[in-house]
Order: sequence, then C-alpha cells, then structure tokens
Amino acid sequence: MSEDFSGKTALVTGASRGIGLGIARELLSRGAAVTITGRKADQLAEAVEQLKTTGGRVLGLQGNAGDDASREEVVARTVEEFGSLDVLVNNTGINPQFGFLMDADLNAVRKIFDVNVVAALGFTQLAWKAWMSEHGGAVVNVASIGGLRSTGVIGAYGASKAALIRLTEELAWQLGPKVRVNAVAPAVVKTKFAEALWSGREETGVQAYPMKRFGTPEDVASLVAFLCSDAASWITGETVRVDGGMLATGTAG
Ligand SMILES: NC(=O)c1ccc[n+]([C@@H]2O[C@H](COP(=O)([O-])OP(=O)(O)OC[C@H]3O[C@@H](n4cnc5c(N)ncnc54)[C@H](OP(=O)(O)O)[C@@H]3O)[C@@H](O)[C@H]2O)c1
Repeated sequence: MSEDFSGKTALVTGASRGIGLGIARELLSRGAAVTITGRKADQLAEAVEQLKTTGGRVLGLQGNAGDDASREEVVARTVEEFGSLDVLVNNTGINPQFGFLMDADLNAVRKIFDVNVVAALGFTQLAWKAWMSEHGGAVVNVASIGGLRSTGVIGAYGASKAALIRLTEELAWQLGPKVRVNAVAPAVVKTKFAEALWSGREETGVQAYPMKRFGTPEDVASLVAFLCSDAASWITGETVRVDGGMLATGTAG
C-alpha cells in the first residue's frame, strides 16, 4: 500500500518550526503539496523558503489557530491554491500554565483548551466541509504523553491533550469510513516548546527512556506520515505513542 502523497494536499498547523516543520518536510518529501501556518510572519517565511528547497509546492499562511476567521481563511486558501485537502495535521499546541492547578489563571487554561482542542475540532470541521466529506481524507492530531499520564506540573496542558485524544476517538467514529482520524503522543522532543525539559538535561533526562535519548521532530514526522498514508487504511481512532519507550517503564519522567 502506498505511502506516497503525490497529487495530495496536506495542511499542517503550527509548522514554522519544531515538530510541525518536520511533519511538513516529511509530507513534502513524499510528494504532497503542503500548507503550513504560524503566527509570526518572519519565521513562517523562513520556513517556507527552507521547505521550498525540497522542490515541492508549499504555501505559508499566517494566522492564530485559535481564531475562527483565520482558520476559515487557511482552509479556503489551501483548497483554492492546491485544489484539494486530503490530509490535516492539527499540530498547534500551547502551554502557558505550569504548576499548582489551584493557582492556575483560568484565562490561561481557557486559552490552552481553545488552541489545543477547540481549534483542532474547528480545522477538522472546515476540512470536512471543504473537501473530506466528499473525497475522503486523513486527520492526525498531535497530542502528548501528558494526555495519557499525569505529570503534576503541566496539568491543564495534559487535560487538554487528554481531551484531544478523546476527540480523536469521537471523530473517528463519526467521520468513518470517509475519513480516518488518529493521534500521536510524543514524549519530550527537542524543540523550542520543550526546551526547559531537555536543555542541559541530556545526561540525566534521557535515563527515563529505554531508547536513552530525547525525540526529534523526524521521529514524530515519520509516524504522522504513516498514519496519513494508505498503508494505515484500517487504523482510525488510535493514539500512537512515540516516546522512546518512556511510558512502557510505567513512569512519565
Ligand atoms: N516538543 C515536545 O516535547 C512535545 C511533546 C509532546 C507533544 N508536543 C506537541 O507537539 C506540537 C508541536 O510542538 P513543538 O514542540 O514543535 O512546538 P514549537 O517548537 O514551539 O513550535 C510550535 C509551532 O506552532 C506555532 N504556533 C504556536 N502557537 C500557535 C497558534 N496559536 N496559532 C498558530 N500557530 C501557532 C509556532 O509558530 P508561532 O509561534 O510563530 O505561532 C510554531 O511554528 C504541540 O501540539 C505540542 O503540544 C510537543
């Protein structure tokens, strides 16, 4: 079965750096035309230039995933530019709240759920209406092992990722057989987002992982590409851990 995306279009949200950029690069290398999004124009433009060196077709659209009008524009312009929308990767995620939940700023918690969960549903609704309900497609939500185990420090983020995992199951049920919906749950991946968790902790931090290293965007990207491909055609509603074996040890760090 094919893992080739020639003639297909993918939208990867929050992809001007980190895991999203890695996913965009992977899908481009397999032949997809790819739209990427991000809030900062300069960084987005730089990412588009980088991705264009693969020789593939890339569109960068600036916008906040939490904004309804921006999501509508992103989906409409993607279909206008590339003529389809076969793959959606809801990768955008934020985590502005740390520590004791009793002290959590509820506006920060609302924002986490809005960007990490509601926006993923919003993008999926739009992709469904614009293309997938008629032509089929695949959606992958980027969750986290924090959605599978408590961490004690990033509780609101973890709860939002748990909601995203459950949303993945609900959508898989409702959108099948036209559209498959899966999620991936990474442990610590060496990106800006998780810098506090890996920077300066290479020696000690990696001991929690059977694979004795932190993850890379490429580790996540190859799994996402597989889940979006025809090779995964009987997999839906699944959340696949990509965590160097961490949860197999029974701990979350
Ligand atoms: N890194 C890890 O260890 C790890 C582990 C498990 C799960 N994850 C998940 O993986 C996903 C990607 O994380 P990452 O580590 O690659 O993060 P990252 O390096 O911080 O990259 C985040 C990307 O999303 C964009 N972005 C952030 N907020 C946005 C918003 N509201 N609207 C649109 N774009 C936005 C950023 O660009 P702008 O800032 O310009 O908007 C950037 O392109 C997230 O869902 C995260 O929860 C990460």
